[in-house]
Amino acid sequence: MATRLIVNQRMQDVDAAPDTPLLYILSNNLELQGPRFGCGLAQCGSCSVLLDGVEIRSCVTPLSAVAGKSVTTLEGLPALYAQQKKLASAPELHPLQQAVIDEQALQCGYCYNGQIIKGAELLSKNPQPSVEQIRTAMNGHLCRCGTYPRMIKAIQRASRAIAGGGR
Ligand code: FES
Ligand code: FES
Repeated sequence: MATRLIVNQRMQDVDAAPDTPLLYILSNNLELQGPRFGCGLAQCGSCSVLLDGVEIRSCVTPLSAVAGKSVTTLEGLPALYAQQKKLASAPELHPLQQAVIDEQALQCGYCYNGQIIKGAELLSKNPQPSVEQIRTAMNGHLCRCGTYPRMIKAIQRASRAIAGGGR
């Protein structure tokens, strides 16, 4: 029997074994390229998505755990932001995605998905986080290129943009 879930605000019926990792469903069945396979052990964050607004590691989350719930991937962040801010339409990029570009925060970009998902979750709950709060929130996201200081700047930049009503 198919499992029904909502992915990026669209209903999806997925025909797969209930213990299939959500990451495989998103990548293989739904062809979403945002979440990435890194460690497969919930250690790096590259596979992160939002489940009902809360960051989870999709590599260790079975399909059965998300039945009837709302999953947001990197691709759906601008629309989720528009929904949260009650904007008439979704911006092309979430403010944090734009800030990462403006700060040139990343190098190889492999961690991009997880860092953006986690940063967006943080900003939705705490639009003006302190540096310490940013460090604490981002702690579980590994970046082999060591971009952590630039990501902090990007999150601060996005925070200012959001405070200014930025899109
Ligand atoms: S691939 Fe899921 S946390 Fe590393
Ligand atoms: S930018 Fe290379 S892993 Fe983070």
